[in-house]
Amino acid sequence: MLMNKIETAAIDNPARRALQRLYEVPTLLKLAGGPLSPGASAVEIGCGPGYGTKLILDRFGAARVDAVDLDPSMVAKARRRLARDAHRVRLAAGDATDLRAAFDAEDGTYDAAFDFAIIHHIPNWRSALAEAARVLKPGGLFIFEEVTAHALARPTYRLLFDHPARDRFTAEEFLAELPRHGLAVRGSLTRVRGDYVLGAAIRTS
Ligand SMILES: C[S@@+](CC[C@H](N)C(=O)[O-])C[C@H]1O[C@@H](n2cnc3c(N)ncnc32)[C@H](O)[C@@H]1O
Repeated sequence: MLMNKIETAAIDNPARRALQRLYEVPTLLKLAGGPLSPGASAVEIGCGPGYGTKLILDRFGAARVDAVDLDPSMVAKARRRLARDAHRVRLAAGDATDLRAAFDAEDGTYDAAFDFAIIHHIPNWRSALAEAARVLKPGGLFIFEEVTAHALARPTYRLLFDHPARDRFTAEEFLAELPRHGLAVRGSLTRVRGDYVLGAAIRTS
């Protein structure tokens, strides 16, 4: 589901970028056990305006990133933001649940898959997890930061933003789903009384 105008403004501003840079990246790097190996390839689902993609290159150390978003206007913003990194980034408008359509991604293509606050936007969130797991190499990392049902039930979220209303997940439900797709949790934590879950999982099979 696409973001409304308020959420679009909320995710693309200096305060959010500082939060990503100063808190989320160091936390996720710790949970993942450090940056990616030299030469690593990554896919980012729901890249939005592309600041996360930049962090995947510059801070997580990916050599190249395939980044997809359902919203062509977000892909256009990301393309502008990432112009200097164009040789290392492939952008596509498409659905995170079908990375074959977006990038022709075969099973076991990537060393890492990144989900920065996007899976809670997808009605069939389990199929997005299955697809991220499918395209990871054995030993590849799924790095995630998600918004849970606790947050989505808060009056501010319900009033200001548009999200699928049914079948959202708690942090526990999200973490419990990962092993069903061959993803073993390496580290995770929840924030703001269970509103957010961050972590890293390794593709085992
Ligand atoms: C809350 S924003 C997060 C954007 C970016 N990852 C960030 O952290 O700034 C969610 C993004 O997911 C995208 N999105 C929603 N459903 C999607 C889907 N099925 N496949 C790909 N992208 C999707 C939206 O267009 C939006 O850009």
